[in-house]
Amino acid sequence: MKITKAEFITSSSEVSQCPPDQIPEYAFIGRSNVGKSSLINMLVERKKLAKTSSTPGKTRLINHFMINHEWFLCDLPGYGYAKVSKKDRDTFSKMIEHYATKRTNLVCFFVLVDARHKPQQLDLDFIEWLADSNLPFVIVLTKIDKVSQTVKSTNLMLLKNELSKSWEELPLIFETSAEKKTGRAEVLEFIDETNKKLAL
Ligand code: GTP
Ligand code: MG
Repeated sequence: MKITKAEFITSSSEVSQCPPDQIPEYAFIGRSNVGKSSLINMLVERKKLAKTSSTPGKTRLINHFMINHEWFLCDLPGYGYAKVSKKDRDTFSKMIEHYATKRTNLVCFFVLVDARHKPQQLDLDFIEWLADSNLPFVIVLTKIDKVSQTVKSTNLMLLKNELSKSWEELPLIFETSAEKKTGRAEVLEFIDETNKKLAL
C-alpha cells in the first residue's frame, strides 16, 4: 500500500472525544518506550508525525492520525511505566480499557513487544486480556535492529511457547525495526488486506 497522505487529527483523553468512528481504525499499544510512536512514523515515512522520546511515558493521550483519507492509525499511551504514579497508571489503564471496549470502528490492535526481552508478564497479561475480551490483535516485535538473530529467534520462540499454553492458534507476529524500516511492507500489506475485506 502506498501512503499518500498522513495527517494528525486530534488527541483525546477519552473515547467520547475521539474523531467520528466511520472509518477503520488500527491501534498501537504496548509498554512505554517499546516503540509505538516510532513505528507509526516509520510506516507513514514521516519522522515527526507521532511524538517519540527516549524517555518512557511520552505519549499520554489517544492520538489519531488519518491515513490516505481512508483509515485511522491510533497511537496510545504505553502501559507499565514504573515511574508514573499509581493514580496516573490507573487513569491510563481505564483510558485504554474504555477505548478498547467502546471504540466501535476499532479493527485490530497491534501489540508491540520489544524483541530484546524474554516474554514479560505484563505483555502476556495484556494479550490475555485482549483475547478474553474478544478483541482482535496481532503482535509486533520491535527494535529487531538492536538484537542478534539468535536472541531474536530465542525470544520469539519463548513468546510462542507462552502463547501456546493458552491458545491453539497463534496470532500473526510481525518483526519490525523503525530504525531500518524492517517489516514496513508486511504491516501495511496486512492493513490493506484487512481494509479490503471490510469493504466487501
Ligand atoms: P511511549 O509513548 O512513552 O509509551 O513510548 P513509545 O512506545 O511510543 O516509544 P517511542 O516510539 O517514543 O520510542 C522509544 C525509544 O525507542 C526512542 O528513543 C526511539 O528512538 C527508540 N526506538 C523505537 N523504535 C526503535 C527501533 O526500531 N530501533 C531502535 N534502535 N530504536 C528504536
Ligand atoms: Mg509514544
